[in-house]
Amino acid sequence: MRVTFTVNGRVHEADDVWEGESLLYVLRERLGLPGSKNACEQGECGSCTVRLDDVPVCACLVAAGQAEGREVVTVEGLAERSGAPGGRLSPVQQAFVDAGAVQCGFCTPGLLVATDELLERHPDPSDADIREALSGNLCRCTGYEKILDAVRLAAARGGETARDGEAARP
Ligand code: FES
Ligand code: FES
Repeated sequence: MRVTFTVNGRVHEADDVWEGESLLYVLRERLGLPGSKNACEQGECGSCTVRLDDVPVCACLVAAGQAEGREVVTVEGLAERSGAPGGRLSPVQQAFVDAGAVQCGFCTPGLLVATDELLERHPDPSDADIREALSGNLCRCTGYEKILDAVRLAAARGGETARDGEAARP
């Protein structure tokens, strides 16, 4: 079957998609977007997290056909969505770098997408909000403390930018 959907603001078509093919496979292998990672393929680790019509989902559990006519955001689209100038990281990505929240980096794309969604809903999240929003994203390296620091940092910077009268979106 053919699947037509929007990824990071651009319309894409994928042909000859098998009925059981996952959205993750189509993104990585057909559309050349390898940012979303394939670790467990069972919905357990969150490394494949993307937004489907704004809602964070595990792309490994979504059949590609379910994306027909819908809008997907992957980690590759975060910088542009945030309004970061060409080639620059989004504020959330930059906060992860600055807080030292990236080690092997395998979990990072999913965490970034989940954090971006959290800060859109909750610009000033509590630690409980952060833990809940990231509870489906497993990291084997960091012990999570640096990740929590990164989310707090991104939220704090979002607040500063808002006070400065610039774009407040993290
Ligand atoms: S690869 Fe999708 S949840 Fe682990
Ligand atoms: S940084 Fe290695 S799995 Fe999270």
